[in-house]
Amino acid sequence: MEPKIRFQNVSYFYGDRPALRDVTLDIPPNAITVVFGPAGGGKTTLLRLINRLNDEVEGTRMTGRVLLDGQDVYAPGVDVPRLRRRVGMVFALPLPLPGTVRENVLYGPKLAGIRDRARLEEILERSLRLAALWDEVKDRLDDPASRLSGGQQQRLCIARSLALEPEVLLLDEPTSGLDPISTGKVEEALQQLKHQYTIVIVPHSVQQAARVADYAAFFLMGELVECQPGRDLFTTPRDRRTEDYITGRFG
Ligand SMILES: Nc1ncnc2c1ncn2[C@@H]1O[C@H](COP(=O)(O)OP(=O)(O)OP(=O)(O)O)[C@@H](O)[C@H]1O
Ligand SMILES: [Mg+2]
Repeated sequence: MEPKIRFQNVSYFYGDRPALRDVTLDIPPNAITVVFGPAGGGKTTLLRLINRLNDEVEGTRMTGRVLLDGQDVYAPGVDVPRLRRRVGMVFALPLPLPGTVRENVLYGPKLAGIRDRARLEEILERSLRLAALWDEVKDRLDDPASRLSGGQQQRLCIARSLALEPEVLLLDEPTSGLDPISTGKVEEALQQLKHQYTIVIVPHSVQQAARVADYAAFFLMGELVECQPGRDLFTTPRDRRTEDYITGRFG
């Protein structure tokens, strides 16, 4: 199967400090790829390069190529807003918009010009179901989103991304502020979503990495140490540094 995303010899610098060093990594479709490793290893930077969120950061430089479906996302003429619709991103802290549950999910689709009420209701239900939140909020669609629990708010943020019908979902430590039950619900939602989407997640712990990874990529100080199917990486890592990290010898 063709990789959905390819990093080809990507190096990235903030000023003259390298954040990524010659990273070559293929991310397959319809699977969960975990990007993990110690703080400062370049995980967030790697995610942000996929949908060009780092474009506005001053004084940076990239070499190498990032491909989405074989197309260079940094090629001249790329429609960046469209790229960002195709590649949704969910952050560590759930940040619902002011307004109701319904308004949160439908903000993007309305901005994209969808006016048909039936179509909007369909998007609302579909997105909330995909984010494993529908049953909990179907009677509270017109309540302020701020009244949801933290775990529900994070799934609402996932639903908001899904309402734009992305192809790729990037999640940067999406459960770092959540209790274990809410974390479990977000992880369950991801297991459902992977059948339709390409998912790249920075986990908040090695345990979570091992639980959710179809593929796992270990990053250390900007270097991709290894990438393997999760069941292999977490049982028989190829590199000593990976082994030391997953067994808790450092980190
Ligand atoms: N906007 C920025 N300006 C300058 N340096 C930055 C910027 N963002 C990140 N860096 C540096 O790039 C390196 C990689 O940072 P990045 O946030 O990608 O790491 P990370 O693996 O996501 O870390 P964490 O686990 O702490 O979230 C770090 O040394 C960081 O200080
Ligand atoms: Mg980070």
